[in-house]
Amino acid sequence: MKKIGVLTSGGDAPGMNAAIRAVVRKAIYHNVEVCGIVAGYTGLISGHFRKLELGSVGDIIHRGGTMLLSARCEEFKTKEGQHKGLQQLKNAGIEGLVVIGGDGSYRGAKALTELGFPCIGVPGTIDNDIGCTQFTIGFDTALNTVIDAIDKIRDTANSHERTFIIEVMGRNAGDIALWSGLAGGAETIIIPEDNDDIRHICARLKKGEERGKKHSIIVVAEGVSSGIELGKEIKQLANIDTRVSVLGHIQRGGSPTAFDRVLASRLGARAVELLLQGKGGRAVGMQNNQVSDHSLDEIFKGNHSIDLNLLTLSKELSI
Ligand code: F6P
Repeated sequence: MKKIGVLTSGGDAPGMNAAIRAVVRKAIYHNVEVCGIVAGYTGLISGHFRKLELGSVGDIIHRGGTMLLSARCEEFKTKEGQHKGLQQLKNAGIEGLVVIGGDGSYRGAKALTELGFPCIGVPGTIDNDIGCTQFTIGFDTALNTVIDAIDKIRDTANSHERTFIIEVMGRNAGDIALWSGLAGGAETIIIPEDNDDIRHICARLKKGEERGKKHSIIVVAEGVSSGIELGKEIKQLANIDTRVSVLGHIQRGGSPTAFDRVLASRLGARAVELLLQGKGGRAVGMQNNQVSDHSLDEIFKGNHSIDLNLLTLSKELSI
């Protein structure tokens, strides 16, 4: 392989730049040219490519976002869009592609692989919702952003003796809520993977109040409910006033943590190795601190499984 491409797609995640850097530097180390595809599959379809050299990825390891820009591309979900993209890759003499992104990005990589073009997926999303990897790039940084917010909200919750609801991202997954809730000492964590009833949650809040608990932090995953709706339900069922903070896109930004930089470096480099070994249709991941790789089919079959032991632990510790 003489030339490979790299793109970032879907929601950006801190550490994507570190992954791009790893792909570029590892490839050049092996005398392979790298072409950066701008704005994900949108740039692939339109042929918006730029050559990436060693210096192109200097001073980016610590930056959030993605230097290649990202997009959610509807057209690439169609056969026509996929064929256009494939033709652009061929025209540019690109022989393999590294796709850094989440679930939707992997579907694009799978489609291209099925058209005979080797692609490797690198899990880049704050949601931590990709199969066959314990951690995705960006998750740890997002967690630390959420924890910082929880700590600050705890100060005011404490001062005013109030119940706070903090709504966090994660799409349909509860990982951000679960891990940040545990790390932030939240009294209640509400995630899609658990079917705790709202009445039960309210009963717990009431019990806490009766025991003299003056303030409380509830972390809710966006995949369950909006913070505002949850606040209304709690008012109705338990007559407890709440304040709501929706953390939103702040969770996607910021300088990546050391963990995310190292993860991105290891996964990006392995993606290049796989392409150079002539392997396509695979995705890299991290299992028990070892870099692994799996077929894209396997990734879609096996859902990312959340560790519900952490939820049990949080309930035990936050009584
Ligand atoms: O997948 C990352 C993510 O931030 C989700 O947590 C969230 O639901 C979604 O993207 C928001 O997407 P957008 O930025 O397109 O509104």
